[in-house]
This record gives sequence, C-alpha cells and structure tokens, in this order.
Amino acid sequence: MKLFRGGDIVSAAGLTRADLIVEGEKIQAIGAPGSIDTRAVDEVIDASGTFVMPGLIDPHLHLNSPFMGTTTVHDYPRGTAAAAFGGVTTIIDFSTQPKGGSLLANIAQKEEEARDAYIDWSVSGILLDAGPQTLAELPQLVSAGFPTYKCFTTYKHSGRLMDDEGMLTLLEATSRNQGMLMVHCENDTIIERRVRMEIQAGHFAPIFHARSRPASAEVIAIRRVIDLMREVPAPVYIVHVSSAQSVALIEEARSEGLPIHCETCTHYLALTESRLEGPQGQLYICSPPLREQKDVDRLWRAVASGSVEVVSSDDAGVSPEDNYRIGAGRFDKVPSGLSGIESRLAILYSEGVARQRIGLAKLVELAAQNPARLFGMYPQKGILAPGSDADILVYDPSPEWTMTAKDLHMNTNFCAFDGWKIKGRVRSVMSRGSFVIRDGRLVGKAGAGKRVFRRISL
Ligand code: URP
Ligand code: ZN
Ligand code: ZN
Repeated sequence: MKLFRGGDIVSAAGLTRADLIVEGEKIQAIGAPGSIDTRAVDEVIDASGTFVMPGLIDPHLHLNSPFMGTTTVHDYPRGTAAAAFGGVTTIIDFSTQPKGGSLLANIAQKEEEARDAYIDWSVSGILLDAGPQTLAELPQLVSAGFPTYKCFTTYKHSGRLMDDEGMLTLLEATSRNQGMLMVHCENDTIIERRVRMEIQAGHFAPIFHARSRPASAEVIAIRRVIDLMREVPAPVYIVHVSSAQSVALIEEARSEGLPIHCETCTHYLALTESRLEGPQGQLYICSPPLREQKDVDRLWRAVASGSVEVVSSDDAGVSPEDNYRIGAGRFDKVPSGLSGIESRLAILYSEGVARQRIGLAKLVELAAQNPARLFGMYPQKGILAPGSDADILVYDPSPEWTMTAKDLHMNTNFCAFDGWKIKGRVRSVMSRGSFVIRDGRLVGKAGAGKRVFRRISL
C-alpha cells in the first residue's frame, strides 16, 4: 500500500487537505490527515505543499496519424511519455476508417501500435462515410468499448467531408447505440472559395490560412449540426471550438435542451492569429486557425462558466521539417496541427489558475472529470475517490520556469508556447497504482498502459 501524505486533494468540488491510500491499482481511502489506518502502508509519499489531482485525460489527439502527406510526430511510446510528463494518465487517440473499409480492422491495428503505451488509452473512430458497413459496425464498436466517433464538415479534398444525409444517418445511429458523435465544424465551401481567392491574389503567407478559414465558417458549420440535431437529437460533441460566436451558438442550442457538448484546446486559450505573422508563422497553422484576443477572452469565460466543458490538446503536430517541405511557401499546402500533448496542464495552470481566470477545481473538471464523464470512463477515471483507478497527479505550484522545446519531452523541436512563463511543475504521476513520473523523471514502463473500456450514458 502507498500513502500520499498531507497534500491538497483537488476535486471538482474544491480543495481538501487529506491523506490518500492506494492499494494495488485502486484508490483505497481518502481521509483527514492522520485519520486513516496506515498500518499496512509500505511506502509514504510526502505530498505536503502540493496539489494532488486526478490524472488528466486528453480526449482529442492524433498519434501516428497520416495527414496531408506526412504523419503526426507522436507515436504511442513518445506521445504517451510526453503526455505523462504533462500530468496525463489517459489519452483518447483516433483511428481513421479507411475509405470504404472497416473501422474495426483499423482499431485492431491501433491495438498493435498502442502496445508500447506508458499510460492508459482508447480511440475514437474517424468516420469517412455513413454507408451500410459503417452502420453495421457502429453497434459493435460501441459494445467493444469505443462509443465515440468523429466526422468532419470539411477536408472534402481528402474525402473526409460528411454531407447532411450522412450526418443525419450518424445522428440516428448515435441515438440508437448510446454513442456520442464528435464533429469537426468548419464549412468546406466557404474555405475552398476563400482559399481559391487568396491563391489567385498571390496571397501565400501563413496568415491567409486564418483569413481563408474565418470564424463564420466555424459558426455556419456548427449551426448546420445544430439544425440537424433538431431533426434527430443525439449526443454531439463539437471539437476544438475556437471562436466567441461559436460559444454563443452552442449555449443557445443547449438552452433549448439539445444534447450538445463541446471542447476548446489549449492553443485557442493562449495564442492569437498574430503568431501566423511572426517568424515561425507557418508552424502555427492549425485548423480551425488561431483567432483574435476577443475570442481568447470569451473562451476563458466559457470554460469558467462551464459552457465549454473540456480543454483538450488536439496534439497533431508534424515535424517542422515536413511542415516547411510540404508547405513549400503555400499556406494551403501546410499539414495543419500543433504539438501540445505535454503543455496543456502548464498553460491551463499558469494562464488559468495563476491568473485567476479559473480555479483549480475547474481545471480538474475541464481536464479530467468532464472528459471522463463525456467519454464514458467515470468514475473509474477522472476523480480521486475510493474504488477509482489510482491515476494520480502531484503538482508542485512553487517552481517558476520558462517553457522551451528542449525542456519538454515531445518529439519535436518546435514548441508553440516557447518562452512562456510557467508556474508550477508536475512532480509525479501515477497510473493505476504505479509511478510513471517520479520526482520529474520517467520511471514508467512502455507497455504498462492498458486500453480503457468506455461506455457512455448521456
Ligand atoms: O489542425 C489540426 N487540428 N489538425 C489535425 C486534424 C484535425 O482537424 O483535427
Ligand atoms: Zn479537427
Ligand atoms: Zn484533431
């Protein structure tokens, strides 16, 4: 048995100074300091002066994922180790259905890729069609513990766009099968038209990525999903919400009673499109693009109020070399995506908690409890409570440091938050009772991570 002694335990309800006992893979007890029977304890971890939180859950990232002529930089061992350094104990990756092919077969391949995971994992399917094979596979997918899957309203050029009929079919299947449909919302027609116009005008610079994917394209796509949900209500999760107007639209739909959920990502809470005009502008291209300060401010208010329920990383970076080689000076050719699997907590804490935009309890809600609930892992994960998995994050709020790529463990020499002043640091991370990070060092084993069986009831 292990005893975490004297830390401030953080739950969505607040902070309590307490002792916490781990037995095997589970939390056995939590109680006031000195109040728990510790006779069977064989290891004491001094947690005084630290925040003890549930291990974080990142429900949106792309490991080893082919995209626009290259592959994202993180595979399972590198990605899950970097995630653990950032306080994460469970990730949800994506498994893309081959065009006209079987998603289940692709998931079997992901099981192989995930053999070297340091922390627990699952995948959401990416659906490219809503045809008979997909519909036949969806219930099997849900009963196999993969109840979330995603479709796109853009990327027509790579065969990903889901049309209205497909979306309605997926909504029907979602309501029948107890699933949740994730949707990437950007209107493809607007984007394609604007890209053509910018290229014709000789505008190739990174900022034109943002100009060709305006907030209005996101808003129109979300509105369309909402209209389709009015036709067929089913749980929907809008991924990477980036704009103030989108938040307002989602709030309105929810007040009507529609089962709509959403996330934003670390980068939309911290960066603006001005980065695209800086010296490394091209490396900041992501979709949807970074927006304006008013959007950043609105998103913070929305995470604080609960309108935006989750903050994910959408880690999807490719190597800077591939970014420049494939982009070749054209914004529309750049494989979009940022690497942020490790930096989410540092930014949420420093920009959110330390700047009093959110409290610690809210941070835990956004990065652990809500992802666990929405993605079907609660209360096994996402909370520190007797009987839950001993996925534990110990955060020391004292250190102050400056983030650079070389201080991180991500498989890239580009860090979108390079030079940011960070408050606090992950001291230790435990996954199902075993340390993955101990006193800032990786001590876990590749292969220790297990697949989490997920079941949702929304
Ligand atoms: O720019 C991004 N987000 N790239 C990854 C693919 C996606 O749309 O999530
Ligand atoms: Zn997306
Ligand atoms: Zn994504």
